Amino acid sequence: MTLPQYAMGTQYDEKMASRPREETVHGEERTRRKKHRALLPMIVALAIIYFTTNSVRRGLHHDHHAGRGEVGQAVKTALDVGYRHIDDARVYRNEEEVGAAVFESGYKREDVWLTSKLWNDHHDPRDVETLNTTYLDLFLIHWPIAFNRDGSVYNKELTDDPFPTWQKMEEMVAKGKVRNIGVSNFNIWRLSKLLSHPNITIPPAINQVELNFYNPQPGLLAWAKEHNILIEAYSPLGGDGQVGRTLNLPVVKEIAAELDITPAQVIISWHVQRGTVVLPKSVTPARIEENLQVTRLPDALFEKLEAAAVGHKPQRTLNPSESWGLPFDLFE
Ligand code: A2P
Repeated sequence: MTLPQYAMGTQYDEKMASRPREETVHGEERTRRKKHRALLPMIVALAIIYFTTNSVRRGLHHDHHAGRGEVGQAVKTALDVGYRHIDDARVYRNEEEVGAAVFESGYKREDVWLTSKLWNDHHDPRDVETLNTTYLDLFLIHWPIAFNRDGSVYNKELTDDPFPTWQKMEEMVAKGKVRNIGVSNFNIWRLSKLLSHPNITIPPAINQVELNFYNPQPGLLAWAKEHNILIEAYSPLGGDGQVGRTLNLPVVKEIAAELDITPAQVIISWHVQRGTVVLPKSVTPARIEENLQVTRLPDALFEKLEAAAVGHKPQRTLNPSESWGLPFDLFE
C-alpha cells in the first residue's frame, strides 16, 4: 500500500466503492494473496460521534454530541450525497442506529465501508471479539490505553504490551469478522513497539489520530508513510472548540477566496493532499455535502497552508490522560 494510490479525484468514483470486497489495506503478503491492489473505497468519511454521558465523564469532550436519530439521519444524508465510508466506534453507542440507517438507505452492506473501534475496557483478549455485525471493513484499537475489565483505569500489562489484544484482532481477520485492522491515537513509539513484536502477522493498516491545522503532526505522517501505515485524520476541521478559529484563519480564507471554495473545503482538500483519509464530523446536511467536495490545491497554495500549519507550536485538542487519571501522558 502506498499513499499515492489514494490520489485525489478518484475517491468519489463509484467504481471504487464497488470494488471486490476481498480488497484489504493490509500489507503486501495479504494483498498478493488476494491478488488485489490495496485501496480504501473512500478518502473522506463521515465521522459519527454520539457520546454517552459516560464517555464524556471519562474525558472525551468534543464540541458536538450528536443525539439519537440525528446520527441515523446524518448517515442517510451522507450516503445520499456520495459518502461510502462511515467512521464509528463502540463507545459512541450508535452502531445499531448506523447499521439501520445503511440498511434503510437501500445500500448493500458491501457497498459501504464501515469502521468501528474497540473500547478501552475490551482490550482483554476474552473481550475483543464482540461484533454486532457480520463483518467490519476496519476495526481499530481506539486508544493505546487498556482499562481493566470492570472499567477501572488502567491495565498496565496490556497497555505496555498490546500484542495479546492485537493477536485477537488478527484472529478476527482470519475468521472474516473484520477485513482490516489498525489502531488509533498511537504515537510513533507505541506503534514501533507493536510493529516490532516478533509474533505479529498483520501490521496495523491504519493509525487514526487527531490531525488538524493546530496539530498537523508532520513527523508522524512521514514515519507512517515510510512504514506503510495509512493515517486517518479525526477532528480535521479543528476539533474541540477550534473549528471556527481554523475556518477563520486568514490563510485559509485567502485560499478559499482564490479558489472560490469554502474554508472547510480548503482544509479537507489540504488533508487529502497530505495523503490522509479525512473524517469530518457533521450532522448538518449542507455541511455533509460541502465536506465531500474536494479540490486539488495548486502546489503553491498547498505549501503555503502546510507551512502555516507546521510553523507554530502544536496544540492537541483531545488528550484524556489527565481525566483518566493516568500517571503519564499517553502521547509521550
Ligand atoms: P455540525 O455537526 O453542527 O455541522 P471536526 O470534524 O474537526 O471535529 O469538526 C466537527 C465540527 O465541525 C462539528 O461541530 C460540525 O458541526 C462542524 N462542521 C462540520 N463541517 C463543517 C463545515 N463545513 N463548516 C463549518 N462547520 C462544520
